[in-house]
Amino acid sequence: MEAFARENNIPVILRDTRAYLENLCRNLRPKRILEVGTAIGYSISCMLRACDANATCMEASMPNIKLARQNLEVLGLTPRVNIVVGDCLKTLPGLNGEKFDLIFLDGPKGKYLEILDLLLPLLDNNGVLVADNVLFRGMVEGETPIPEPRFVPTVEVLRTFIDRLQRDPRFITTVHHIGDGLCEVRYKN
Ligand SMILES: C[S@@+](CC[C@H](N)C(=O)[O-])C[C@H]1O[C@@H](n2cnc3c(N)ncnc32)[C@H](O)[C@@H]1O
Repeated sequence: MEAFARENNIPVILRDTRAYLENLCRNLRPKRILEVGTAIGYSISCMLRACDANATCMEASMPNIKLARQNLEVLGLTPRVNIVVGDCLKTLPGLNGEKFDLIFLDGPKGKYLEILDLLLPLLDNNGVLVADNVLFRGMVEGETPIPEPRFVPTVEVLRTFIDRLQRDPRFITTVHHIGDGLCEVRYKN
């Protein structure tokens, strides 16, 4: 799956992000995982193989969904996954009232703030929310200059995303320099 993604320019989690997520799944032992941005099913397969959770996956691209279904079937994971098709900003409100103990956000970076508002009510009190790409190739913390003006809005969204969570007194928020930057959010209990 990793090789297929690379050959077909489908962005999937990096190796150290995979190790982090697998470790988190082994320690947290989630029962219900929500993933926003499933692509071909790579990250969710890694997580499901590291615990015995069931998963709800949100994905907008039909070609990706087709590939994700095939990959999950080959791995015997189909019975544990419900793929919700469509724009997550439209489909997430349909999960109202459900709770997840692990939420992995890996969808459209420029929409992270709007998605966050929809995700936080779905996070269980003892759960963990992890958002990928929050350092956006070094641009968010200024390690790398922003190479093109078109990246500026996304960088600003990601800076606000981290800042909002770090200022929110309900949460403990940690930014890990793993992969492209992982933001880990837990309720203070
Ligand atoms: C970085 S990829 C996900 C990679 C996957 N998590 C993995 O590591 O295997 C982001 C995915 O989000 C999907 N996506 C983009 N905008 C979306 C939206 N508004 N709603 C749902 N999915 C979206 C894209 O089609 C793409 O497949």
